[in-house]
Amino acid sequence: MNAKANLAMIYDDGVIRQFSIMAVVWGVVGMLVGVVIAAQLVWPELNLGLPWTSFGRLRPLHTNAVIFAFGGSALFASSYYVVQRTCQTRLFAGKLASFTFWGWQAVILAAAISLPLGYTSGKEYAELEWPIDILIAIVWVSYAIVFFGTIAKRQIKHIYVANWFYGSFIITVALLHIVNSAAIPAGFMKSYSAYAGVQDAMVQWWYGHNAVGFFLTAGFLGMMYYFVPKQAERPVYSYSLSIVHFWALIFTYMWAGPHHLHYTALPDWVSSLGMVFSLILFAPSWGGMINGIMTLSGAWHKLRTDPILRFLIVSLSFYGMSTFEGPMMSIKTVNALSHYTDWTVGHVHSGALGWVGLVSMGTLYFLVPRLFGQKQMYSIKAIELHFWMATIGIVLYITALWIAGVMEGLMWRAINPDGTLAYSFIESVKAKYPYYIIRLLGGLLYLGGMLVMLWNVIKTATNGKPTNILIPAVKGN
Ligand code: HEM
Ligand code: HEM
Repeated sequence: MNAKANLAMIYDDGVIRQFSIMAVVWGVVGMLVGVVIAAQLVWPELNLGLPWTSFGRLRPLHTNAVIFAFGGSALFASSYYVVQRTCQTRLFAGKLASFTFWGWQAVILAAAISLPLGYTSGKEYAELEWPIDILIAIVWVSYAIVFFGTIAKRQIKHIYVANWFYGSFIITVALLHIVNSAAIPAGFMKSYSAYAGVQDAMVQWWYGHNAVGFFLTAGFLGMMYYFVPKQAERPVYSYSLSIVHFWALIFTYMWAGPHHLHYTALPDWVSSLGMVFSLILFAPSWGGMINGIMTLSGAWHKLRTDPILRFLIVSLSFYGMSTFEGPMMSIKTVNALSHYTDWTVGHVHSGALGWVGLVSMGTLYFLVPRLFGQKQMYSIKAIELHFWMATIGIVLYITALWIAGVMEGLMWRAINPDGTLAYSFIESVKAKYPYYIIRLLGGLLYLGGMLVMLWNVIKTATNGKPTNILIPAVKGN
């Protein structure tokens, strides 16, 4: 058999190796910046008096690094792995897939330089300026071509549900990014939004909430639907439920954005509509979580011995928790207390550290040994250690901020019998101080776990060698 025919029979895993390693590296970098800004909130002088290291510039660096560099790389890696295995074919346009890797790394590098320099569009989670936005759009459209091209040339008639989630994530993020980033350039690295006033705010939070729904949720649900059954060695609990889950989730998420703009210039009915859809969203979210967790039916004992499965299942519990908390916070009267407080930041991190972080780590622990021709990770004990460091870190982080958030919300609204405010703003800031220290400790533990992972991944990758896996022959279809 000639070399070319041979090549056609193996999966295109080089790009998955690259994305997997970079997911771990960016995870460390993004969380380190998270720890730095958490420390700055305790000791403000840590900004060193320099503009580049000030909280306002490092905060978007943190959010961009953890969401798009860490989360994004894990999503690229896992989707390229899953789409090939479930379609039993190589990636469509392998060179374009390679371009998505280098293009995405270029976007991350541009963000890491431009954000500390102070270039920003001022839109949360969409801070990058127009030249970088154009590069993102090009990389994303290439990603869509590779992903859907692979689906189109599949050897299996059926399209497994994980691909539906990945597919919706890819299409929606393209739509969100292109619409929300529409802007008039006013020089290199400076632009003005194409929208004005409350419309601009509405478009931004339509984007912002769906970034949560599709970037931080739908793509990771794709991971759940493939890697939980694989690691548990059980079929998904209910395939019918997964289909209902998919359609209900993607239909409902689109409408929930206005819950970020309660009590603003937005018309009241739009804000109520966002609240109602957020409450409805609870049902598909929990349906999906139950489907994932119940996949372990008959295999619960594996949780005792398999730390990778533990990462995946505990991530689902945090998913359940944050998707219960979110709908509650979208109720206007609850939001009147939670908005602008650290309760929101606690909610964000129960989803981000608990769901997005843990499911990505479990998936990467599944992928890395297979991609480097090893039976398992270099050290299982280190995975155990990582699991406990991460879990304790999350609990410290989110409980501290729940207490701090509810406390400051109550302090802001407390009034004396004569109608004057019971507390000044600075008193509420001072009261949060101990909780900020606890959050910092939680963050340090979570980052420490990630460093253990980096060591374990380097050991596994250098002990093994890149392995090419044959595509099984498919009969019929
Ligand atoms: C070591 C781990 C982490 C630490 C110590 C940390 C710390 C922080 C801090 C201090 C803030 C600013 C809060 C404020 O403005 O008051 C923040 C914001 C944020 N972080 Fe993290 N973070 C960590 C990991 C992550 C991860 C893994 C993700 C996502 C996958 C994430 C997503 C976010 C988001 C979305 C915000 C903005 C929250 C908002 O606007 O309400 N973080 N983080
Ligand atoms: C049913 C699902 C969910 C609903 C209905 C929901 C609802 C909400 C609400 C009401 C807020 C507060 C808005 C405000 O007062 O400004 C919020 C903030 C946020 N949520 Fe959720 N949430 C859900 C799930 C999640 C998950 C799973 C994640 C992360 C993986 C997440 C990430 C965020 C982020 C990043 C913000 C902060 C946005 C900002 O102000 O910068 N949410 N969410």
